Formats: sequence, C-alpha cells, structure tokens
Amino acid sequence: MTTTETPTVLETIAATRELVRSARAAGKRIALVPTMGALHDGHLALVARGRELADVVIVSIFVNPLQFGPSEDFERYPRTLDADLAALAGSADAVFAPTVAEMYPGGASQTTVHAGPVAERYEGASRPGHFDGMLTVVSKLLNIAQPDVALFGQKDAQQAFLVKQMVADLNLPVRIEAVPIVRELDGLALSSRNRYLSESERVLALTLSAALRAAREASDRGESVAAARAAGLARFDQQPDVRLDYLVIVDPATFLPLEDDATGDGLILVAARVGATRLIDNAPLHF
Ligand SMILES: Nc1ncnc2c1ncn2[C@@H]1O[C@H](COP(=O)(O)OP(=O)(O)OP(=O)(O)O)[C@@H](O)[C@H]1O
Ligand SMILES: [Mg+2]
Repeated sequence: MTTTETPTVLETIAATRELVRSARAAGKRIALVPTMGALHDGHLALVARGRELADVVIVSIFVNPLQFGPSEDFERYPRTLDADLAALAGSADAVFAPTVAEMYPGGASQTTVHAGPVAERYEGASRPGHFDGMLTVVSKLLNIAQPDVALFGQKDAQQAFLVKQMVADLNLPVRIEAVPIVRELDGLALSSRNRYLSESERVLALTLSAALRAAREASDRGESVAAARAAGLARFDQQPDVRLDYLVIVDPATFLPLEDDATGDGLILVAARVGATRLIDNAPLHF
C-alpha cells in the first residue's frame, strides 16, 4: 500500500478497526506509530522503520490528556494536523486522529495501567502520573490497532523501557521496536517541544547534548561512572540559565542507577528546563 497520497484519516475507533480487519484479511502486517502530532523527522524515522517491518503503517496522533500534569502544556501543545498529514504523504497509510471524547467517553478512563516502580524515577519523579497515563493510552492504541509491531523513539528512553516492560508483564502480542534518536546537525535531539524555544533558548538547549557528549568522551577514555557523570554535570555548571532537572547514569537493562565504579553498559539520561520548555535527551555509554 505504498502511496504518495496523504494518508487516510480515521477519526473513530470503529473505522480504525475496520481498516485493520481488512488489512489482516489480506494477510498484511501492521505497524503502529503512536505520536502526539506536531511531527518532525524523528517521527518520520519511526514511520520509515515501520514500513520496513510491516505492510501497513498506521500513525496515531492524539494529545493524551491523561499523561499531562495539571500545570503542564496540554492546552497549548502544538496541534498541526494538516501539516502532519502532508508530512506523512507517501510514508504512512492511515492516521488515527481521535478526539478526546472518542478515546475517553464520559471523561477520564476508570481503568488505568500502573507502570511500576521505575516509573517513579527520573521523568516520573518530575511528572507524577505521566507514565500511568502514557501506558494507559498506549494499551488502548495497541488494542485498537492490533499491530504486529509498534515503534517508539529512543529519545524517550524511559518511555520505551516502560512500554517494553508492560508488553512483557501483560503478555501483549506485539513487538516493540525502539528507533535511534534523530538529531539536528548540531546535536539537539528533535522534539515537538523544540518549537517553543526562542533563538537564544535554542542555543542554550545544546547544553543537554553537549553534556551527553562530555560523559561519552569520559567513558570512551576509560573513566568511571562517577567521572562520566561529573563530566556531564560540568556542562550544566557552565550554563546557569539551563535548569537541570536530573542527570543520571542507569543500567539500560533495569533503569536503576549504576554504582560509581560499575562496569558494562550504561545509559545517561538528562532532563532540563530552558526557559519554560522542558527537554530530555540520553545516550549509551560503556564502562
Ligand atoms: N528525535 C527523535 N528521534 C527518535 N524518535 C523520536 C524523536 N522525538 C520523538 N520521538 C518519538 O516519537 C514518538 C512520539 O513522540 P511525541 O509525539 O511525544 O514527540 P516528541 O518530539 O517527543 O514531542 P514532545 O517533546 O513534545 O514530547 C515517541 O516514541 C518518541 O520517542
Ligand atoms: Mg514526547
């Protein structure tokens, strides 16, 4: 079903199920790419990977109120459906873009997914309830689209970890694939929220990727977890206008912090605020 046309827009769960049913009847494999829209090349990398793995690619575009805190940017989150459909022309077959009422008839979901202890840390510590809301909507989307594979970005590493954990814990019949981070040439990880940044904030935002690089260089030199963390933190000390939320080096297999003298694989996670915009980034390390 490769096409240069804009994708079919599905506004209802019933229409999506019907498309899925007929694709399955024709023996086609289905990929799902869950997004909140305001699409950029990071999202398109997920779509391209979905194309490699399946015959039909469905992109969901839904700004999920359940995963935003009361003081977060749900109301002002960028909603750019026409531009998103144009960006997906020729790559996605269908876009599932439901209203909040379609996804949560009668208000919020009574039944929710609880993410477990890793979700209390890092992003979850700063955004209470975020991961329960995310996993709840991802469960709904997986049940609606019943994909063979669902694609998530490594940019949101804790999210990808928790989705994989949910799929394993609840025996959901889907393969979860994490796609590498797409960056600007200067290192900034693409994110829909980057469009909130002013020109000067855009420069300050490079502190996140610069900190990851400094930590990476330390680990490449054979330095310890503690030294790599210190090298990353030093970049933030030089930029007091960037408010660090957390910088931590975790074991990618458990998402628990690595001991200062640990050896093996690590993953450095960082979150910081530039002006009113909260950004995250991460990179693999080896000790
Ligand atoms: N730079 C990127 N590289 C790879 N995947 C990405 C990138 N940015 C986002 N994604 C992935 O796209 C999917 C949808 O994410 P989402 O719609 O929240 O976009 P976003 O850029 O993370 O926006 P925001 O920063 O506002 O949360 C997620 O799986 C996310 O990890
Ligand atoms: Mg996001």
